[in-house]
Amino acid sequence: MAVSELPPLKFASPVVDEATIAAVGDVLRSGHITSGPWVEAFERELASFCGGRHVRVMTSATAAVEVALQVCGIGPGDEVIACAQTFFTVSNMIVKVGATPVFVDCDLVTRNIDLDAVERRIGPRTRAILPTHWPGSLVDMDRLHALAKARGVRVIEDAALVIGSRWKGRNVGAIGDLVTFSFHPNKNITSIEGGALVLDSDDEARRVDALRFHGILRLPDGTRDVEFPGGKFNLPDVNARIGVAQLARLPDFLARRRALVERYFRKWRADPACVLPPAPEPDDGQSWNMFCVLLPLERLTIDRTAFRAALAARGIATGISYEALHLSTLGRRFGYHRGDLPNTERIADTTVTLPLHAAMTDADVDRVCAACADVLAAHRR
Ligand SMILES: Cc1ncc(COP(=O)(O)O)c(C=O)c1O
Repeated sequence: MAVSELPPLKFASPVVDEATIAAVGDVLRSGHITSGPWVEAFERELASFCGGRHVRVMTSATAAVEVALQVCGIGPGDEVIACAQTFFTVSNMIVKVGATPVFVDCDLVTRNIDLDAVERRIGPRTRAILPTHWPGSLVDMDRLHALAKARGVRVIEDAALVIGSRWKGRNVGAIGDLVTFSFHPNKNITSIEGGALVLDSDDEARRVDALRFHGILRLPDGTRDVEFPGGKFNLPDVNARIGVAQLARLPDFLARRRALVERYFRKWRADPACVLPPAPEPDDGQSWNMFCVLLPLERLTIDRTAFRAALAARGIATGISYEALHLSTLGRRFGYHRGDLPNTERIADTTVTLPLHAAMTDADVDRVCAACADVLAAHRR
């Protein structure tokens, strides 16, 4: 069969089994379809996964980041330091609560936030550091949290991509300050849409309860009050039921994703060479949500758009993770220019996300590696 006649290969796809589909039917038939017992069950399971800390699920990680910023009391006049090599959620939510994003650069290979730059940019208005953990390598948690503690700022870890990664034997989410997860269909587990916020303080958890549901406080006489305007971010039980089933399968999904990444590393033969993510090591505790490479565009006669089109013509879908936040129209409003954050910009200009999801076969990886090698070799400068 010619390569282009092979079935289309998505770059991300959820795995939802028949038992989960049947379980969703049960929830729909139960008459209780919005937030209820399955939300409580999902939060209990996630709390146990996160070392017994408080967990509140919401309609997305974006909502969780917004609520995390609000629960820290961050607003106008405050600064939040974030990596510019991440998804729009990060800058959007900082700006949405009225604060100023302070963008810093990242490492070219791990893509994690540059903690030297964070240290340099902490100032009197800094209220929080908001790093995104990358698949294959986490931000140095010891240094991050020691720095935040020493300088008296909060940490909101964007762990959207890394549920299941471990730091020194402990799950991401089980340590630190505030941590957010995403359950979007492209992530390691899904609840269709959904996200979670992990935190320690009982008092803050109560405020999160209000902030995710209109700001409503229930008074002893059965009436309700609102002190501050909350959002409407409660997760329906239908979604939570899927989340519970998916969390139980997280170890299988992670093992499959890891096996696929190990195969990518064994089969990758690109010439000219691409910059690859850090190679997996035995027992490194890393999870793999995406496999992104940097194209050697200076050594090619085609640009990234043409490279992606050549793969698409062979039925292989790709993505871009991520554009540079400081160069978005929103980011530039805060005075950033091209050249400010070189690694972030090089990644934004040359990165391609290749297919990686738990339903892929070994042959799918071989097909992607062969297609990339062909396209690169055919367009060497
Ligand atoms: C790094 C990162 N953070 C946050 C988010 C937001 O997740 P959600 O779609 O659940 O709001 C995403 C979504 O893709 C992401 O990639």
